[in-house]
Amino acid sequence: MPIEWDPAARQWHLRNERMSVILAVLENGELGQLYLGSALTPGVDYRHLARGPFHGWENRVGAPIRLELPTPDTGDYRQPALAVDLPDGSQAMRLRVRDHRILRGKPALAGGMPATYVEDDVEADTLEVDLVDERTSLVATVRLTLFRDHPALARSITVRNDGDAPVTLRTLMSASLDMPGADWERITLHGSWVRERHVTRAPLTPGRYATESLRGSSSLVASPFMALVRPSTTEAAGEAIGVSLVWSGDFLADVEVDQYATTRLRMGLHPDSFAWHLAPGDSFTSPEAVVVHATDGLGAMSEAFHRLYRSRLARGEWRDRVRPILINNWEATYFDFDEDRIVDIARVAAELGIELFCLDDGWFGRRDSDDRSLGDWVVDRRKLPNGLETLARRIRDLGMTFGIWIEPEMVSADSDLFRAHPDWAIGVPGLPRTESRQQLVLDLGRTEVVDHLAGALSAILSSAPIDYVKWDMNRTMTESWSGVLPAERQGEMRTRNILGVYELYRRLTERFPHILFESCASGGGRFDAGMLAFAPQAWTSDDTDAVERLRIQWGTSMVFPVSSMGAHVAAVPNHQTGRITPLATRAAVAAFGAFGYELDLTALSTEERAQVTDQVAWVKAHRETLQRGRFLRLIDPFAGNGNDTAWMCVSDDAHHAVVGWYRVLSRPVPGPSAVRLRGLDPARRYQVRVWPETDDTLVRRNSLVRGGDELMTVGLFLDDEPREAGVRGDFQARLFELEAV
Ligand code: GLA
Repeated sequence: MPIEWDPAARQWHLRNERMSVILAVLENGELGQLYLGSALTPGVDYRHLARGPFHGWENRVGAPIRLELPTPDTGDYRQPALAVDLPDGSQAMRLRVRDHRILRGKPALAGGMPATYVEDDVEADTLEVDLVDERTSLVATVRLTLFRDHPALARSITVRNDGDAPVTLRTLMSASLDMPGADWERITLHGSWVRERHVTRAPLTPGRYATESLRGSSSLVASPFMALVRPSTTEAAGEAIGVSLVWSGDFLADVEVDQYATTRLRMGLHPDSFAWHLAPGDSFTSPEAVVVHATDGLGAMSEAFHRLYRSRLARGEWRDRVRPILINNWEATYFDFDEDRIVDIARVAAELGIELFCLDDGWFGRRDSDDRSLGDWVVDRRKLPNGLETLARRIRDLGMTFGIWIEPEMVSADSDLFRAHPDWAIGVPGLPRTESRQQLVLDLGRTEVVDHLAGALSAILSSAPIDYVKWDMNRTMTESWSGVLPAERQGEMRTRNILGVYELYRRLTERFPHILFESCASGGGRFDAGMLAFAPQAWTSDDTDAVERLRIQWGTSMVFPVSSMGAHVAAVPNHQTGRITPLATRAAVAAFGAFGYELDLTALSTEERAQVTDQVAWVKAHRETLQRGRFLRLIDPFAGNGNDTAWMCVSDDAHHAVVGWYRVLSRPVPGPSAVRLRGLDPARRYQVRVWPETDDTLVRRNSLVRGGDELMTVGLFLDDEPREAGVRGDFQARLFELEAV
């Protein structure tokens, strides 16, 4: 799947079996974006797809041209992808194509930016096109990688100052897509603490719509993701273009419809909180945006993200392994525990088949509440007099592995670290620092801070047999100013902070390759592709309520695979919603994630312990399919009244599938309904089993051998006995297992 360069047409065609991206040098020397969509015939001149020539187009009435790297103030009045304060203070540039290179494989990004990768050069080809503004010698290199096996394009930009005076980068968009026409709907993910990544879909209208974060992280409120879909696109059919940013800090994603009804979608570092000073000879590389194009529905778009991110963004020893079943003590004890209390919970966990214990917040410093000790990464001997090592050994002796919670990027005002280094906390001199959760943010743009944290955390992680780390981050950024940057570089501060977080992750994941890292940020406040490059799973939400989790996990699955979504069974009444759901329902939801428990197991009745034992065994038996199979969304909790949800996972060979079906409120005497499946082999027959195996019509009606074709057209039977279906009670769920016979 080479990248074709046609010197006569001055055109590049990046192509795999499912997707084509075509660029060309326009008549005026600029880089035109001709096409992004399903695969087109190679060896063809597509220059007629460009409109032009381009200059001063308010003189001409006609649709504006599609540009790969639009800049401001030269006639294109849409939002730019690159804006630079040039030495004379102007921003007008004429970027002309100077050079290009076609590379086998995919080069790593400069400057510590995380990115997708290949393991073998045959997996992708990369095109680099250098554009230069002759007047100022500013060089912008557009880097496009098309993967062989994924309908996915990775894009990043490097800007280099070859002039002899400094310039300042103001806008640098990782993605900038110009689409002909505006017949699209946008899909974005929004939320709040305990309500992350709810799906919003709306038609495009003239003007500009933005989704963004200026909170210092990708945030609980918005996600660095946007999809454009046709009005008719469904989960299973229709065109979908998804854009996701491999970045964990502030971002802007917007979509603009101009007076000619053309569409421009941009995504990248947020221009309001980003500036980068480029001295002569300096360069800066943007984060990477990943663009997926699917012709068969939103489901196919998500599947492409899942496969690429699971296999070529996530890395390390845990990338391809099913995840251990975890017990976390946070909702069981909060800060109030000691060694014996932890071991008591672990003992029950081990008996029930649980494999990993995570000791959450509260084990360090004098951390009896959240107002102190962040930064003091030494064991609290009042709670754990024998240290982490003894605790870890006692848990290991039970046959489980052991891990800890950390929050390295933060410091409490009441901590030895802050008393020793008050200047390490971010703040503007002379202005009171805003506290949030009684804590401050460390300036990870400072090398000495990263060095200190790497040292302190390495000491802890090597002090005991630790196999898992939950890396939390619990506040937004305010009063952004760094004591080590000159005034003209303060615009780099937030970007440097995230690059420092990545550097710390890099050092710890390299030093401790056996550790499974799970990222977290007050739940899912930094669930993004940047984090996934270091931690293959993330705590999806502090909301452990099974009903709320349906929407949260559905929304998260737009981009992220099941294996990346931490999902736990918690106690009832639920600590976030007060809702009481059946234990089986809680497990049936969490099963479609990196599964675990987060409750006081010692408080369970004998009957509940038996249920948990059964759940743990069930997940172990099916987690290969759940975490490594295709995930398909079936019944949308955001559609209609949202009362029913269903989704499924199918093994790649379609031999085995698991379906989850959930109903929030019971309705009296419902009419018969069904859930139609997808992704099965129509020619195969499947033995259907229902779990839990209750004594009712639902189980009896479905426990049959049926054809894949029939299961996809007729579906599983849900309410065939209306009287019985109506009295099942609220918050019901069933898992169906399908095995080819
Ligand atoms: C955050 C996390 C929780 C828990 C607490 C501990 O809120 O999201 O899971 O770890 O911090 O303080």
